[in-house]
Amino acid sequence: MLMQKGFASDNNSGVHPDVIRAIEAANSDHVVAYGDDVYTKRAIEKMRQAFGKDIDVHFVFGGTGANAVALKAMTDSYNAIICAETAHMNVEEVGAPEKLTGCKLLTIPSKNGKITVDGIKSHLHALGNQHHAQPKVVSITQSTEYGTVYTPDEIRDIADFAHEMGLLLHVDGARLANAAVSLGTGFKQITAGVGVDALSFGGTKNGMMYGEAVIFFDRELSKDFKYIQKQATQLPSKMRFISAQFDAVLSNGLWRSMAANANEMAKTLANELRSIPQIKITQNVEANAVFALIPKRYLAEIRKRYFFYTWHEDAKSAEVRLMASFDTTIEDIDAFVEFLKDVIEK
Ligand SMILES: Cc1ncc(COP(=O)(O)O)c(C=O)c1O
Repeated sequence: MLMQKGFASDNNSGVHPDVIRAIEAANSDHVVAYGDDVYTKRAIEKMRQAFGKDIDVHFVFGGTGANAVALKAMTDSYNAIICAETAHMNVEEVGAPEKLTGCKLLTIPSKNGKITVDGIKSHLHALGNQHHAQPKVVSITQSTEYGTVYTPDEIRDIADFAHEMGLLLHVDGARLANAAVSLGTGFKQITAGVGVDALSFGGTKNGMMYGEAVIFFDRELSKDFKYIQKQATQLPSKMRFISAQFDAVLSNGLWRSMAANANEMAKTLANELRSIPQIKITQNVEANAVFALIPKRYLAEIRKRYFFYTWHEDAKSAEVRLMASFDTTIEDIDAFVEFLKDVIEK
């Protein structure tokens, strides 16, 4: 369905032209399938420059798949995975991580998408007790599902505590680029440099067509990964077309400029919305998401032109999520805000 360019999701955007060009450039001759090709070698080299030399990188089809296979490599079926109640893997992956790993997800209530060491502690009362699933992994999302961002120190605290307790740290980095831009860091400073063991690294939400990567900083974890990846149907045969995309976004600062635009546009959108007294911004705008409370009586009219998702609602208002993308423009924001004002003031 064609729709008004809006703010429903960074998944609704298209693909950056440089990425399309990279796919086209990879579309010649035959190369060996399943990753034994020059495009994949080049992309892995770029990943090493961005994340550090001592990593194992695997390209997969999607974000849910990346989380599920990464977690499978980190756990046994009697383990538990600790994450925020708001985590994508808990709310929106149809239980894929549980199905693939056999693990129980232990969730921590969170108002802003983040978790802390205290929250993790609340799930560690039965370590060593055979009647309880044994926590093995802590998973955090960066940037979070609420558009907030963990600082490097916050990640380091979680990693240190997890390791002290014999646990591993996984990051769902579907929007890691937005977090790095927000913090003014590179990728290494918020992953390998602060104790992260494994990462689901997103490409699709930041200008790629499809494809994500699973990166292991603790390389021992990836020793059986090739079997896990294939069995879980996450081994792309024409891998060069994912690799070529990652090569493009990791070249010439493209990932940074795309995420910077998305973050900047989210801030601008939030500022504009703050000028409408009936609308209230509910979360800190630290990456490319804006959460806003809108009185429900206006929603049907707004949705006649703009599609977006409701996160929560009560009798009177809906908390909606608005996302900016690599290709969001000031004109998009002006048109949306003007339309909102028209509807609200009518
Ligand atoms: C934080 C986060 N993780 C993982 C995913 C999963 O990505 P996919 O839809 O490619 O499975 C999403 C998708 O929206 C996401 O927002």
